[in-house]
Amino acid sequence: MRKIAIGADHAGYQLKREVTQYLLVSGYQVEDMGTHSEESVDYPDYAVRVARAVAKGEADLGILICGTGIGMSIAANKVRGVRAALATDCYMARMAREHNDANILCLGGRVLGIGSALDIIQVFLESRFIGERHTRRVSKIQALENPDKSD
Ligand code: RB5
Repeated sequence: MRKIAIGADHAGYQLKREVTQYLLVSGYQVEDMGTHSEESVDYPDYAVRVARAVAKGEADLGILICGTGIGMSIAANKVRGVRAALATDCYMARMAREHNDANILCLGGRVLGIGSALDIIQVFLESRFIGERHTRRVSKIQALENPDKSD
């Protein structure tokens, strides 16, 4: 069973609740890393929890939700080994996995309705990295994490 780490700020909290329910019903194991209410919080605090869990291999993939998904993606991508992708449609979600080997999906709780969000998540979770020329490109992204190799 694949394990999904999920996190949100106050602007993503309601969507996180619905997404978590969907994932459990769909047979995924879910690690909910907060937030747990609509009280205002700072999205980097939740981005880093999910990002570290994915980077350490404690979860197979991650989902992060804030108002737009932008702040979560910027913050999560600071963690070594994370490739967090913001997706607003199914094509972006599929490409994020197939070409970019993204390991975290970022969504905007104030951008997407529940139907679109669940479709995007389903595509993201069911798509696979296709390798080939994309392996070289992802390796070049990873090299940027090592200052000695990024000049
Ligand atoms: C919170 O108001 C909002 O800034 C946050 O959820 C997110 O959209 C940031 O990128």
